[in-house]
Amino acid sequence: MQQLSGGMQNIENGQLTKYNRFRNGDQMKGIILAGGTGSRLFPMTLVTSKQLLPVYDKPMIYYPMSTLLQAGIHEILIISTPEDLPNFRRLFGSGEALGISLSYMVQEKPEGLAQAFLLGREFIGGEPCAMILGDNLFHGAGLPLLLKKAAKKERGATIFAAYTKTPERFGVVEFDSQHRAVSIEEKPEKPKSDYCVTGLYFYDGRASEFAAELTPSARGELEITDLNNRYLNAGDLEVVCLDKDTIWMDMGTVASLWEAQEVVKRIQQENGTHIGMLEEAAFRQGFLSREALAAYAEKYRATAYGAYLKNICEEGKKY
Ligand code: DAU
Repeated sequence: MQQLSGGMQNIENGQLTKYNRFRNGDQMKGIILAGGTGSRLFPMTLVTSKQLLPVYDKPMIYYPMSTLLQAGIHEILIISTPEDLPNFRRLFGSGEALGISLSYMVQEKPEGLAQAFLLGREFIGGEPCAMILGDNLFHGAGLPLLLKKAAKKERGATIFAAYTKTPERFGVVEFDSQHRAVSIEEKPEKPKSDYCVTGLYFYDGRASEFAAELTPSARGELEITDLNNRYLNAGDLEVVCLDKDTIWMDMGTVASLWEAQEVVKRIQQENGTHIGMLEEAAFRQGFLSREALAAYAEKYRATAYGAYLKNICEEGKKY
């Protein structure tokens, strides 16, 4: 074990690298699952991680990470493949430069989304934990409030459902006449609704325990849908339907990656706002000082990204 400056422990041989500067255990933790083979994006992902591909002006992982920050989460575990994890570490380090705390963990094989709660068991430590998929993009004015509400819940789980024209590609929620969720099916041939489960999940402290009870599905994976059904059957799952003004995208195919680039470009050029901005999110949450934000603006001064950060810095608003 090696001491890191500003960190508490670094368990390289046990695979978990943890830099822990925060000690307020009442805060929800977060996981970004950024592994997988990226086979739907071959040959783009033959030698690089999907989640590091550019989406308009920033790496893909910036979008889901900024969503966790918007939820007020500053203690985050990044899980990825043995080949790709070092690149995430090169990109973000301990997280200290962003005012957050990052840990890293290898997933040897893509054995299912719910496996994150087994791999991350030590990191989670029986506390509430959110997970976001490293290829998911969320954007909307109402989103920060929804995220904060989900992060504050002490018991049960919250997931977010979105309308889709292709429900058979996703986990699908069935609702009763009172619009209560009654079942979730993974990639059903005959979907029972047009609402799919998005890749953002908030669980209470039982997630690792429940994940340990799961068995692999027919496709050999520990399914997140089974974990969600575990909470649903216990009467402890809240399904929040995202409104039509909230954008959700899974950027895992050539078509959806291209569409995401277009959407980000349009929003950033037309609305004068930028999305997926880690530095802005960290600043607005109070994790990053104005001086540190100004330093980022200076570092990126050759880009529209830097100019946007400079504006945020000068506008000085904080909520
Ligand atoms: O995008 C939302 C959907 O995500 C949900 O509606 C489904 O219920 C859920 O199962 C999941 O479906 P996908 O078919 O999109 O999962 P996929 O296997 O593509 O994995 C999602 C991301 O997670 C992808 O970027 C790769 C990464 N991954 C996947 C697995 C299975 C890992 O990092 N490790 C894994 O073990």
